[in-house]
Amino acid sequence: MVDLGCWPGGWLQVAAAAVGPTGRVVGVDLAPIEPPLDLANVVAIAGDLSQEPVIERVLSELGGPAEVLLCDAAPKLTGVRATDRAREEALLEAIAALAARLLRPGGALLVKLFDSPEADAAAKALGRRFERSQGLRPEASRKGTSEKYLLARGFKG
Ligand SMILES: C[S@@+](CC[C@H](N)C(=O)[O-])C[C@H]1O[C@@H](n2cnc3c(N)ncnc32)[C@H](O)[C@@H]1O
Repeated sequence: MVDLGCWPGGWLQVAAAAVGPTGRVVGVDLAPIEPPLDLANVVAIAGDLSQEPVIERVLSELGGPAEVLLCDAAPKLTGVRATDRAREEALLEAIAALAARLLRPGGALLVKLFDSPEADAAAKALGRRFERSQGLRPEASRKGTSEKYLLARGFKG
């Protein structure tokens, strides 16, 4: 399993339990997790998910593309709407491009979405690359947040 935008490690802990001792979870974040998580089946890489050496390291740690790709990555917001939207779109584009590298055919994706028509369009296009996809607003999300996720299964490759 791959977890993009993994700091400080909440999802990594859940993912580690989900894959069990014989599975493997590789996380990526700009921020290093300090102190490192004491989980034998987890590797956290400090780096930018859009950088080729980081992707290569993910694939090498995992031994190939993953069955499940999680992405909770979010850019640093400036409060300037146009800048923030551009950063969010660039991140979604990077993730859409990465799916074919990091996910094996038949695999599943859970990705956090941003609140803009452009992000909705990008998510729709991403969803079409899977057999089934749906939008989710988890009950655990903070009240009043615009947070939503795309859950897609059966990656067509
Ligand atoms: C909401 S936090 C993730 C929380 C995490 N899911 C957890 O359970 O602890 C979003 C993270 O995305 C990371 N991020 C944003 N852009 C990134 C990029 N280009 N490469 C790697 N990580 C990125 C940020 O550094 C931030 O730590």
